Amino acid sequence: MYQHGLLQLINYINIIIYMSKLLNCLKQKKSSGFPIWFMRQAGRHLPEFRNIRKKNKDFIKLCLNSNLSSKITLQPINRYNLDAAIIFSDILLVPYVLGQNVTFKKGKGPSLSKFNLKDFLSKNNKEFTTDLKPVYDAIKKTRQKLNKKKSLISFVGAPWTLLVYMIAAKNKKNKLNYKILKKFKNEIDLILERLIKFLCIHIEHQKRAGSDVIQIFDSWAGLIPSKYLERFCYEPNLKLVNFCKRKKIPVICFPKGIKNKYKGFVNTVKPDGISIDYDINPSWAKKNLNNVCIQGGLNPKLLVGTEKKMMKEINKYLRVFKYKPYIFNLGHGLLPETDPKRLERVIHEVNTFK
Ligand code: CP3
Repeated sequence: MYQHGLLQLINYINIIIYMSKLLNCLKQKKSSGFPIWFMRQAGRHLPEFRNIRKKNKDFIKLCLNSNLSSKITLQPINRYNLDAAIIFSDILLVPYVLGQNVTFKKGKGPSLSKFNLKDFLSKNNKEFTTDLKPVYDAIKKTRQKLNKKKSLISFVGAPWTLLVYMIAAKNKKNKLNYKILKKFKNEIDLILERLIKFLCIHIEHQKRAGSDVIQIFDSWAGLIPSKYLERFCYEPNLKLVNFCKRKKIPVICFPKGIKNKYKGFVNTVKPDGISIDYDINPSWAKKNLNNVCIQGGLNPKLLVGTEKKMMKEINKYLRVFKYKPYIFNLGHGLLPETDPKRLERVIHEVNTFK
């Protein structure tokens, strides 16, 4: 009996000393306050990032420079009081090492060289992890420098979102190009399966290198017609989430743009955390997304608008989720024009909320 009590006490102390606020929240344990981090916190809104970027014109090469990538990851941590760092990398590194060239034209977003199924299928596991080794090295370096109480988040793109970029399945107006999808009709399932295999490998290596949470970005899930949502969104995410569960890696999903289908997603995929976008009403989310830790939601545009409106909206999320395990974040990535002073304001508001 006495020994049991002692073990419990040790466990409790362990949680207090070593457990990050974010991990605790993902386990759906409500503690005081909300953990906070921002999607795209490591990036263009920071002058210190833009300085490095100016000297490193090739974005993919920058992601694969472990010293610089670790340094960029820690930039927002050094500036702000955040609960998590997210490794500076990109979801498009996976298609890149699988044989497609990736370029970023200003204002146009990423563009990939023509997809070739034979090349895509020719890569073996060893080559894949060797090419991505700089990412794992960056994670190791970052973990060594990061306070134990702060989480280190790694991420992957969901198979559908990667496919959209790989076969250029959306047009400039962000609408699906059905002609292209039809052209790949007989190959899509094979491509998705193969991607799932590589994404599991990438997840496991990022975990082994020292990251403690995985986020799966399905940024283009909102483009999928309802009748295909199970096949192209729920199922691939479920396979990745089940892999994370087998490996005991806490996982957050972000199926952006699927509106009220968020409910079916959570009930089917059952991730530890669900990141909501700015189209989701927080009260609806609280009522309909059960047995999951909710993250995010605030429209990133509010951080470049009037301070009054921003504060009102922040407090709406804080009030709705007051008694819930909730991770404060945005409904999509920070806009590059966001003033760092605004982030400080948001963080202060969240951390002093009573
Ligand atoms: O701080 C962080 O969140 C970590 C770094 C991170 C980046 N990309 C760095 C980056 C993360 C998590 C991503 C994920 C990512 N990349 C997604 C999923 C999230 C989302 O935004 O929906 C997607 C779709 C991509 C693909 C991608 N990479 C896009 C659409 C862009 C922007 C293109 C543009 O010019 O606007 C990138 C480039 C990119 N990835 C930048 C950063 C900091 C900007 C690069 C620059 O300096 O020009």
